[in-house]
Amino acid sequence: MQITALRDDVLRIRASRTDVLPEDASWAVLPEARRASVAVQQESSARTVRFRTSKLEVRVDRATGLITLMDAEGHVLQQDAEPMQFEGKRFCAAETMPLDEHYFGLGDKTGAFDHREEAFRMWNTDAYAWQESTDPLYKSIPFYLTYRAGVSLGVLMDNTWPSSFDFGKTLENTMQYCVDGGAADVYVLYGPTAKQVLKSYAWLTGPTPLPPLWTLGFQQSRYSYMTEARVLEVAERLRKDRIPSDAIYLDIDYQNKNRPFTINTQAFPDIPGMVKTLHEQKFHVVAITDLHIAYLPGQDYAPFNSGMAGDDFVKNPDGSVYVGKVWPGPSVFPDFTKRSARVWWSTLYKGFTEMGIDGFWNDMNEPSVFDELKTMPCSTVHQLDEPGFAERTATHCEIHNVYGMENSRATFEGQLALRPDMRPFVLTRATYAGGQRYAATWTGDNSATWNHLRLTTSMLKNLGLSGFALAGADVGGYAGTPTPELLTKWIEIGAFQPIDRDHAEKGTGDHEVWANGLAQEDIRRRFIETRYRLLPYLYTITEEDTHTGLPLLRPLFLEFPDAASDHHPLDVDVNTSGEFMVGPDLLVAAPAFEDKADDYDATLPSRGWYDFWTGKEVAEDKEQLQTGGMLPGIGAGLALPTVRVHRELATLPVFVRPGAIIPMEPLVQSTEERPKGPLTLRVFAGADCGGHLYQDDGRSFAYKQGAFLRMSFTCEATADHRRVSVRVGKHEGTYPAWWKELAVQVNGLNGKASVVTVNGKIAAHVDDGHSVTIETLDAGDGMDIVVRSTGDGQ
Ligand code: NOJ
Repeated sequence: MQITALRDDVLRIRASRTDVLPEDASWAVLPEARRASVAVQQESSARTVRFRTSKLEVRVDRATGLITLMDAEGHVLQQDAEPMQFEGKRFCAAETMPLDEHYFGLGDKTGAFDHREEAFRMWNTDAYAWQESTDPLYKSIPFYLTYRAGVSLGVLMDNTWPSSFDFGKTLENTMQYCVDGGAADVYVLYGPTAKQVLKSYAWLTGPTPLPPLWTLGFQQSRYSYMTEARVLEVAERLRKDRIPSDAIYLDIDYQNKNRPFTINTQAFPDIPGMVKTLHEQKFHVVAITDLHIAYLPGQDYAPFNSGMAGDDFVKNPDGSVYVGKVWPGPSVFPDFTKRSARVWWSTLYKGFTEMGIDGFWNDMNEPSVFDELKTMPCSTVHQLDEPGFAERTATHCEIHNVYGMENSRATFEGQLALRPDMRPFVLTRATYAGGQRYAATWTGDNSATWNHLRLTTSMLKNLGLSGFALAGADVGGYAGTPTPELLTKWIEIGAFQPIDRDHAEKGTGDHEVWANGLAQEDIRRRFIETRYRLLPYLYTITEEDTHTGLPLLRPLFLEFPDAASDHHPLDVDVNTSGEFMVGPDLLVAAPAFEDKADDYDATLPSRGWYDFWTGKEVAEDKEQLQTGGMLPGIGAGLALPTVRVHRELATLPVFVRPGAIIPMEPLVQSTEERPKGPLTLRVFAGADCGGHLYQDDGRSFAYKQGAFLRMSFTCEATADHRRVSVRVGKHEGTYPAWWKELAVQVNGLNGKASVVTVNGKIAAHVDDGHSVTIETLDAGDGMDIVVRSTGDGQ
């Protein structure tokens, strides 16, 4: 066994049953992180091997090999329950599970948010119309985050072989991890906060690159818009009905006989022309490009012929190319673990890239094969050509779980090579730990049911805790036709999720925003409009994620670990399970069960929150505030504010943290439109008041040379909230502001605004009692705005 302190708070544990350690390689972990190390203080004795870093202490019992991990004060953080067991190629590890510990992460796993008492397998699977109990699903992200009384650890079991995680389902209070082969290579990341664990995980496996801004817009898809005319019709309708939107997807039917990198020229006679028209209408086009290349020997199909010439496909054990059936019929499969195959793959995109197609969708990359196994046999052979790994072949069993990630990597790197000045957008279905470096993801073929809408929240929370900040679920549900109410509610909630893509299966009824008539469409449009107004906030938290690893959609406990007196994670309580945070400031309080009709209590992590829609303090509404609302499973005497919510189809409760400053922009129909009017700062007076703004051109890498705009805002309120001052910080970076006016809206002022000063001078214009619009010649930086209400004697 070898234990290395990569940092004072990150350990790597490698173990082998022989005296030779396995190859020092990883698909997930960055080479620079893998090779890092810090000096440790050794304190070994006859019975134990011990060492300390400034943050951790590790003890290994010499006789059993059992490891105990402690913090600097000697509190046990993790303890092996049993020595590692090796049995042939297979091995298992077991950890003790303290009674009050919770387990999150593992990618797209479904079921409850907390994985305690659940068990999962890692084997990327095309799980069409999966249900709550379906496992495995599309992704294998063998990373979990523990959370116990405010203290978190992250554990990455970096092994791509088929594996299982059992969090006390089989053996009470024992976490068992078993894997069918490969190396024992474990990374342990110490928080103590969950936020720090996510930051360290981004250091270990790489951050999410900054995506193009348009990917935060509303995206419209269907399997499939069957003709060019239909695509243009949908686009026109989106614009005519004034549904803000940014992307239209081409699913497999744009291709000739489902053959990747071809076009059905009867149905799509002029894709370059279509793309041009869509660009003029400020849309972006995303095309599906599945990995299964049609097996067409002796025909004029370049992807097959060039791939064969370059020896780029996965082989059978006898050296022949493996052929399996997928959409095009018999197909062959690129060997994405081989560098030269990835480079070849990227050349296939040349034509589409030249046509101006903006983003690419890598589907079916578990890989899915239409036979009993649902994928290729374990015996098929991949060629490895990757730094760290020996030059060797590997069976599909070893590569299966990382195959989808390497597919998305090839696409991402190919886009960078073909369009070096544009940020790529790749959407992948299957992936592995670290896959956030290359692609956004979605939860696959969900269903148009209320239960699936409910499941979406915990799946996206867990994906966010597994490195995938950019994740979505098919809005409206893929399989089946949603009822009008379900589609409306889904569009409302989807508007607050990182990737907001409406998608539907062939043969289902319309899922577009206008389906079901004008009354529903009006409600739906309002929510998508809200998303667009919030783009400055959404883009700012997206950019933050690239440094911090903090997802856009967050569980409440990530932001408010101390909300409950015992630091219990609020999200695991049934009543709170529908709630989620968007960034640090917005709390979307969807009910736990969407299909019920009764009123419900939304729980807030502290007092003094605001209603996002009205800007009013929730506490002001005495009838709605229920103090002392007791949550099951929380220590006695704990009271968290709850708000009584009357369910209505047309509304969704969204609350704002006291002390937030949320930047918003005037409504645009596409992110390609320059907003007209002021940048609005919505100030919600409260403690630790502040906010940020990040802007850039939304598409290139010029921000790396300083072409960005970064501003910070702070606010201070007097104890009686009769006077609130807002400071607009310095404009950093060279990217110019699009606004010439700043609208500062102060919420939480006690009384009506009577005097507003800007840099000490009385401002002329005060709207509706609490906001002021100020003309600025530049971004408005270095400005002090003071809003006083009648009764403020100062
Ligand atoms: C399966 C994907 O999950 C789905 O989103 C897509 O529409 C179909 N394949 C057809 O490409």
